[in-house]
Amino acid sequence: MMEQFNAAVIGAGGMGKVHVDAALASPWVKNLYVVDPDPRRVKLWEGEARLKSSTMDEVLKDESVRFITVATPNHLHLEHAAAAMRAGKAVLCEKPMGNTLAEAREMIRVEDETGLFCQIGFELRYSKLYLLAKEWINSGAIGDVVNIQTRYFCAESHGKGSWRSNSPEPGFLIGEKLSHYLDLQRYFFDADFETVYSLAAPKVVPFCNHHDNHQIMTTFSGGRVGVLNFIMPIAETWDNGEKREMLEKQSDDGHALSYHICGTRGAIETDVFRRRIRRWEYFDAPDTLGSRIVETVTFPKEEDQTYFHNVYGQDLAVIDNFAKGGASQMNTRDAYGTMKFCFAAELSELDGKIISGSDPRL
Ligand SMILES: NC(=O)c1ccc[n+]([C@@H]2O[C@H](COP(=O)([O-])OP(=O)(O)OC[C@H]3O[C@@H](n4cnc5c(N)ncnc54)[C@H](O)[C@@H]3O)[C@@H](O)[C@H]2O)c1
Repeated sequence: MMEQFNAAVIGAGGMGKVHVDAALASPWVKNLYVVDPDPRRVKLWEGEARLKSSTMDEVLKDESVRFITVATPNHLHLEHAAAAMRAGKAVLCEKPMGNTLAEAREMIRVEDETGLFCQIGFELRYSKLYLLAKEWINSGAIGDVVNIQTRYFCAESHGKGSWRSNSPEPGFLIGEKLSHYLDLQRYFFDADFETVYSLAAPKVVPFCNHHDNHQIMTTFSGGRVGVLNFIMPIAETWDNGEKREMLEKQSDDGHALSYHICGTRGAIETDVFRRRIRRWEYFDAPDTLGSRIVETVTFPKEEDQTYFHNVYGQDLAVIDNFAKGGASQMNTRDAYGTMKFCFAAELSELDGKIISGSDPRL
């Protein structure tokens, strides 16, 4: 167990703000340095005595800084995470590990070479909705998981001229936006994919360089199947500021974010826009296979973040784990399984073919 230490957040944009707030709330963090070339970002914490604006060079040289969170745009993740590890700092890096698999492999190499703590931010594994689904699966309540259907419909919210819309990578959106949801399929099946086939219809968002829809079909061992259907431009509300207060409206204005997890003895449904998770049990009825809902858990809007977007809780847990000498719960090698999955789906769309997990390009 170590003493309190200083930490830094690199990139204090939309997601960096959550990382900064979480680091300031961690009992392990003494002072926090924020690195962002945009001076408006650091102004958000004006008056916070424990927070100082800094530069990458300064935080790398400062031995009191033990922990660095990387929340810059994706093409900078490798540069910032590798520099931090090479300077002897523990790292929590936002997903994806980079814009290419080569970048992701290099991050693994740096983690191996330095032997330092490095975690990739797949925060849904810390979100109560999905932890509860996993707990039900692990308890055997639905038998063997054989089929997972993920539905994600939203609005265009990346914005004109943003780094996301301007990304040159054709399949960029799978790693950027869908990696969380493919990662959960790995988590629920407790396995890596075997083959993947993905289709993208012509896009309708004119200013994005990437596709705005993906239909990703995957096989896992034993013939188990995962499907993810994603479409971006349908939903009516897109304003990020309002979104968190608007789930009730959004549940009926085109948004959907749900998993249907089908097991051999029952099923689970998670539904963000209805703030709900339910479990079914199958039974033998006289003329059919019966099914009944046996458990329903709902949550209030005050708990939205902890239930389905728990970056804050993830950060507190990761910093605590690091401070107590624990191993990373999603190191670069593990996160690479999800990166591979995302890029295999991208390759499938480019090739128009089924891609196997053993494809040499992965
Ligand atoms: N885990 C999640 O749920 C989740 C959600 C959204 C975004 N993200 C990830 O977080 C990362 C940031 O996304 P965002 O939405 O905050 O983007 P953003 O554009 O809002 O913020 C990026 C910030 O990085 C800063 N920046 C750019 N170059 C920099 C540099 N060289 N050094 C330091 N700072 C620099 C920008 O000024 C900006 O403030 C992305 O990798 C994204 O994939 C994760």
